[in-house]
Amino acid sequence: MMIQIPDVLTPDQVAHCRAVLDAADWIDGNATSGFQAAMAKNNQQLPQDGAAAREVGAIIVQALQANRLFVAAALPRTILTPLFNRYGAGMGFGDHIDNSIRRDPVTGQTLRTDLSITVFLSDPEAYDGGELVVEDAYGSHVVKLTAGAAILYPASSLHHVTEVTRGVRTASFFWIQSLVRDDAKRALLLDMDVSIQRLSMAVGTDDPSVLSLTGSYHNLLRMWAEV
Ligand code: NI
Repeated sequence: MMIQIPDVLTPDQVAHCRAVLDAADWIDGNATSGFQAAMAKNNQQLPQDGAAAREVGAIIVQALQANRLFVAAALPRTILTPLFNRYGAGMGFGDHIDNSIRRDPVTGQTLRTDLSITVFLSDPEAYDGGELVVEDAYGSHVVKLTAGAAILYPASSLHHVTEVTRGVRTASFFWIQSLVRDDAKRALLLDMDVSIQRLSMAVGTDDPSVLSLTGSYHNLLRMWAEV
């Protein structure tokens, strides 16, 4: 399941984040890759435990934790301290699948990467190329979102970033271990959650059907969640 999350950051937050990031010292992106990914990767990253990454990362995580769609779709258990990448002209990242297990150098926690997220921090008009392309059973999905928006997708997906041919693409990317490991179960819970919200708007939260379906949602979550 791929979900677009619009307006994770406000335009003011994007401007602040970009000012901090643009002033930081960037390094070769291969510092954080697994062996196979390093072969395909050509970009720049920020040191994950550096001051700029930590300041902007905290803004992004706080915004996501307050975002109802993100919480309902990801059911986050552990969120990795955000990473940042930057692609200038001639840079891209060939097909790869992200590592399954990651250790967070900031918190010391180890997490299973169930979901990947990219938070776009450059306006699409500011660069050509630089599309995130994610493959799933339904084909190739080309993603290039407005600054401040995010895409959430299963970390098990094959994906690549096309070469940037003009301008600079700056983004944040990181992984989430979900309370519910299985993507199909998570998708079902999200559908149910959205339908319950819609039904409760129509008939009120104390309607017996709303109460019963809300109970079923939580009982499914109880059955499937790993905490
Ligand atoms: Ni990747």
